[in-house]
Amino acid sequence: MLSNNDNRGIWSSKLGFVLAASGSAVGLGNIWGFPTQVASNGGAAFLLIYLLCCFLVGFPLMVAELAIGRHTKRNPVGSLKVLGQAKKIFLLVGFWCVCCGVMILSYYNVVAGWVLSYLFEEIAYFSTNSGLAIFFSDTTNGLKNALFAVVFIIATVSIVIGGVHKGIERAAKLIMPLFICIMLILIAYVFTLKGSMLGISKYLIPDFSSINSSLVFSALGQAFFSLSLGMGVLITYGSYMANDQNIPKAAAYVTLTDFSIAFLAGLLIIPTMYIAQENGIKILDQTGGLLNEDTLVFSVLPELFHSLGGFVGFTFSILFFALLSLAALTSTISLFEVPVSYLIDEHSVGRKKAVLIIAGLVGVISVTISFNVNLIGLFATIFNNIGLPLGGLMISLFLGYFWRTENAMLELRKGFDAIDQGQFVLLWPIFIRYICPLLISLILIVTIYLTLW
Ligand code: TRP
Repeated sequence: MLSNNDNRGIWSSKLGFVLAASGSAVGLGNIWGFPTQVASNGGAAFLLIYLLCCFLVGFPLMVAELAIGRHTKRNPVGSLKVLGQAKKIFLLVGFWCVCCGVMILSYYNVVAGWVLSYLFEEIAYFSTNSGLAIFFSDTTNGLKNALFAVVFIIATVSIVIGGVHKGIERAAKLIMPLFICIMLILIAYVFTLKGSMLGISKYLIPDFSSINSSLVFSALGQAFFSLSLGMGVLITYGSYMANDQNIPKAAAYVTLTDFSIAFLAGLLIIPTMYIAQENGIKILDQTGGLLNEDTLVFSVLPELFHSLGGFVGFTFSILFFALLSLAALTSTISLFEVPVSYLIDEHSVGRKKAVLIIAGLVGVISVTISFNVNLIGLFATIFNNIGLPLGGLMISLFLGYFWRTENAMLELRKGFDAIDQGQFVLLWPIFIRYICPLLISLILIVTIYLTLW
């Protein structure tokens, strides 16, 4: 009954999967979202809660998505169709996943385009072409936004069109090590600058008094986005996994990698903000809170690079925006692959054609958003803040109460012979049936309440 569609593609190695899924997880959420959230939410206190959210909610859900994907060897719609015995409600969940993917990808492209255009802004600035620098830094210029969003789509297409092994996996194997190298170089350099120690202490000394329910919900939301949960990326990536791969172990590696990169990004960005402050650049608003995320990345940091000046400032700025662009690229790849795999599996479209159809669709939405950047906030609320937890909730309820954890456990047993010997076999079902749905429902209710009132 299950698809025996062997030419869908398969990861060539266990490491290949871990790198590709880590690439999906590591993105703007880690380098941009996480450090700014930490900085405005009590430093290491947030870090600690975030770690708990990743492992207590993110990890079990990641295992769930991967098990569904590998068992059915299909995209989210196909998976839920097969396992959900074609019940309409489950099909709807699958469609919701694909729809969230397309929409998140569409505005993520525009933001990724901004990052890329800042790379050019810095080149223009340091080659003293101020006219061009102003052009590249204008995030309200629709035409420029559209141009860079399209460049990003083309870059993503050129990878996804190569397929699972020769496209996605190969890109991840190339980009992830490069990404980590750039990050380590930047951190090492930042540590030598005056002001960095204050930043490090702000980051690593926890302020436990700042822990409250809203901090916990922010951390949970951040974990969802960062681990790429709740919209079937991991169902899709799981569908390309070989049967001898240990799913819980692979999921643990991906969760740990994502957390570690977020942690390292904190070590880079938070000290950098305080170095900027040391250099006389404003990083706090009138109320003493941090300036908002966009201002920090697109204004405070470039100002710092400029104040450092010369070769050092230039190299720092280029490496920084290259780092962000690479992070964004490995994420757009995963978001793109979901609707592509849907067309390939469910409508028997060839990969090339599927990629072009999705590129066209995402292109139209991205260009529309490029000219109406206010839409980003609205779409982020609907598809990210509400859509992902909703998807995650549905997936955990579906697995826990319809497909059932006993059946999923049979899938997990493949590649994990010793599954009965540890605590996993006892704990995972409890998390999927009770703890994840409860916590995710809470975050959903609070988010919807805060959005509407
Ligand atoms: N995780 C990525 C980030 O941190 C973004 C991302 C990629 C994503 N694929 C996803 C978010 C799927 C949600 C769902 O930037």
